[in-house]
Order: sequence, then C-alpha cells, then structure tokens
Amino acid sequence: MSSVSVSSPSNIALIKYWGMSDAEQTFPVNASLSMTLSRCISTCTLETLDCEATDEVWWKGEDGLLVPANGPMRKGISQHVLRLRHHFDFWQPLRIITANTFPTGAGIASSASGFSALALAFASLCGQAPSTDLLSALARLSGSGSAARSVLGGFVQWPGDPGDLQSPPRQFAPPDHWPLHDLIAVVDPSPKSVSSREGHRRALSSPHFPTRQKLLPERLKNLQQAILAQDFAAFADAVECEAIELHMIAMTSVPPVFYWQPATLAVFYHVQQLRRDGLQVCATFDAGPNIHVLCTPVHQPAVSEALRNLPVIRQLIPDRIGDGPSITEIQL
Ligand code: PMV
Repeated sequence: MSSVSVSSPSNIALIKYWGMSDAEQTFPVNASLSMTLSRCISTCTLETLDCEATDEVWWKGEDGLLVPANGPMRKGISQHVLRLRHHFDFWQPLRIITANTFPTGAGIASSASGFSALALAFASLCGQAPSTDLLSALARLSGSGSAARSVLGGFVQWPGDPGDLQSPPRQFAPPDHWPLHDLIAVVDPSPKSVSSREGHRRALSSPHFPTRQKLLPERLKNLQQAILAQDFAAFADAVECEAIELHMIAMTSVPPVFYWQPATLAVFYHVQQLRRDGLQVCATFDAGPNIHVLCTPVHQPAVSEALRNLPVIRQLIPDRIGDGPSITEIQL
C-alpha cells in the first residue's frame, strides 16, 4: 500500500470569475485576480487499496471523525477521480480522505482548495511532479474554475493572459510583496442554496452583464496598479466595487440568485465605517453570505478587535496571504 497527503489553500477573488465561456472545460468569460490564503486549507490523503477493493471516499469532520462522504460531495470527488484516472492511466482502487479547516460549501472556495489538493495528491501518488500549468488544468477540470488559481501562491491572475481566456494562471505578485490579512467573518456556515456552477450559468442572463464586461479591463488594471504600488485606498475601491457588482449580477440574473443576508450587509457597513475611521480595511464576498475582511498587517489587530464585538459574526477565521499547495506529512 502506498499513500500521499497534500494540503492546498483556498483563495479569495479580488476580481471575480463569474460566468463561463466554456462550461465543459471550465473556461471563464473574464480574467480574475485572487489572493491565495494560508489557513483555510483542504487536506487530501490518498491510499492505494487491494486490486479487488472498490474506491472509498471519506470525509473527516471538525470533530476529527471519519464519515463516508455522500451526496454531491461524493459525486464531485468520484467524478474527478475518474478524470484523473484517465489522465494518469492509474486504475488501482483508492481510499480518498478529505478534510477542511473551514466551513465547506459556504462560499469560502472549499472547492478550490479541495480539488487542487486532490489533483496534486493524485499526481504525486502516480510518481509525477506536474507543472503548475498542468496542475491548474487538472484542478480546473473538476468544474471549479477558482481551483485553477489555488495552485499558485500570492496574488494570482487567471487566465494569465486576459486576451486568451484559455491561458493558464500566473502569479501576479508573490505573497511577501504585500502580506495582506483576510479575516473571514462567517455569518452563516451552512452550504449555499445555489451552487456557483449554477450562478455562473445564470450570470449571462443578467441585463447588466454586458456592462460588467466593458468595465472589467479597467478595474483589473486599477487593481493591478494598486497591488504593485501597495496603495490600499485604490485597492479598496476596486475590491469593493467588484464585490458589489458580482452580487448585483447574481441578484439580477434570471432567475435571481441571492447570496447576501442581513448580517452580510451589517458587517460590510461596519467595515466601511472602520475605513472612514482611518483603518486600512475593506471587504469582499464570494458566492455566499460570508465576508472576507481584508486589511494590512499593521491594522489587523484593531480590525480583529472591532469585528469580535459584532454579534452577527458567528466565527472569525484569521487568515492571510500564503503559498500554494504542498505535500504534507499529515495523514488523515
Ligand atoms: O470556482 P467556482 O466555480 O466555485 O466559482 C467561483 C466563483 C467566485 O468565488 C464567486 C468568484 C471567484 O473568482 O472565485
């Protein structure tokens, strides 16, 4: 029997991927730019089983107990394992165990961390060390486009060439260029009611979608410049404008997709007040009600303290920019 474990981070999109140009291959309609995280991690352990066995898919919950994965999670993992089997021509039965350090399916990109971890673990079990381009493609083919970005650390743009929507991701700046923090304010840990895949599909039906496509190249440029210059005010403008627009597109899709909750806005207002009070802090949201509160290292303690006093926040996950996936000694 041989086994391998990989840990891979989630990421938070600053410019969002929302809408697909090719649903089969999971190619986006626009370039996105994200920040890879370091504490929101999926770990995936793969163990080979005897030839007569059948694949086992396990989930390790927060209580540390192993339970058989079921429902959409089992289906998603099994389908992706089959794709990886074809790619690597590896057919030995497997025990697949996955765990997350953060709520799953709640709009904190658990599919990005989970599928990038699975892809690297599978390649490693087959004795391969894939390039980041190949790893990104393997992760993306799971159907989670954001997984394409989790294979790199720091600030990551996907597609790397905005003029070629099928190009691989590239690192825009390394993690130590601007070591931003992300305090993830969980206001509802339950899985979202509409999957991002369905949200991507509906996005193109929003009457505002063409306007978004026109505005995005300029916003991407502004964000890139803000990151390079470490200009937090310009960064906050681009990030918040983009976060609101993602949800505006979702809410005006046909039928509408509504991810915000009253608590989402309560935290967002609070963050804007903190910025008016002089803190370098801004907020963004993925496809879910939870809020990513981004801030500079020097202001992290004050922001953290302020958020701790907000009763609508059920869990505050302190995270920061980080490196990509790695093989780990941890066996689930
Ligand atoms: O990768 P998916 O299919 O889970 O979609 C991600 C969608 C957003 O999180 C809203 C945006 C993004 O770029 O991560």
